[in-house]
Amino acid sequence: MTTALKNYPISLLEVIRARSVVSSHMEPSPLRLYAGLSQLLGFNAYVKHENQNITGSFKIRGGINVMSHISQQGISGVVTFSTGNHGLSVATSAKMFGIPAIVVVPNGANPAKIRLIEAAGAEVIEAGDNFDESALVVAEISSSRGFYYVHPANEPHLVNGVGSEFLEVIEQLPDVDAVILPLGGGSEVAAAVATLKAIRPEIEVYAVQAECSSAAYQSWKQGRIVERSNETFAGGFATGSAYETTFDIYKDQLTDFVTLSESEIYQGIALAAYHTKNLVEGAGGSTLMAAWKLKERLQGKNVVMQFSGSNASPDEIRTAYELDAFYDGRF
Ligand SMILES: Cc1ncc(COP(=O)(O)O)c(C=O)c1O
Repeated sequence: MTTALKNYPISLLEVIRARSVVSSHMEPSPLRLYAGLSQLLGFNAYVKHENQNITGSFKIRGGINVMSHISQQGISGVVTFSTGNHGLSVATSAKMFGIPAIVVVPNGANPAKIRLIEAAGAEVIEAGDNFDESALVVAEISSSRGFYYVHPANEPHLVNGVGSEFLEVIEQLPDVDAVILPLGGGSEVAAAVATLKAIRPEIEVYAVQAECSSAAYQSWKQGRIVERSNETFAGGFATGSAYETTFDIYKDQLTDFVTLSESEIYQGIALAAYHTKNLVEGAGGSTLMAAWKLKERLQGKNVVMQFSGSNASPDEIRTAYELDAFYDGRF
């Protein structure tokens, strides 16, 4: 049962199927053209506002599709490990489908995040001083209670669900030339490749990651999965490894891959506020900074920069909004 879920295909057809599930639980997110940004960047600058989704990120799309399939399998509950958007998405989508959910967070995790996950309807268990220790607890719950472990990347129904975002992009902007996306575990970039490239292979897909959590970037460069240190403040990028299911899809399909310093990531948060009046988290605003670095080759094109999420901590927001970019909008 579990193997069938993990081995399910990821394809345009499956994204179309997932879309009907996702769209019955949430509105499409807006795609907006920003004149000021277009002028600065020299291309038609569109933003796909996944930061405005319920739970504040694109992740909910994957959660909804996973839970829809779980609910048809007679599985008694779900468990995952996360301190961020994945945990919130699993908690919220499980509640939508009446499925019990447990989210394991490391000892000492931010109490505000724990409250959000609990408010979304999941039981939170604090366990382990690092990912490996917490992962053991997830495995133990999964086997003792028969709960399904919802992995943040190696999860085909999650990737197909996230793909619904890119069907929306094609409908909202059929002449899209390029999309710029943050990459952590890779579910979003893999979904973009599976969807957009199947519809029009010449659409350019660019990925962004933090310099100090660059496992996916290094894996892409070397053509094989490698591990790297993971030190960024930006939760969406925070992974120490690439993951097989998503890596296999994006490894030969990216037009390019940009990495950003921590201060550039903060600047993206400030610029998103200045130019679009939106609250974004680090990975969310990173696509603006990546666009700035790529602007020479994007001149005159229709470019979609995705704001992936809005769950920044008060400290992160304060740091970003003290930067000059928040006041003058300059890159
Ligand atoms: C806000 C945000 N942006 C980007 C990402 C990266 O997404 P993925 O893990 O699908 O690469 C995440 C992942 O959690 C996220 O929460």
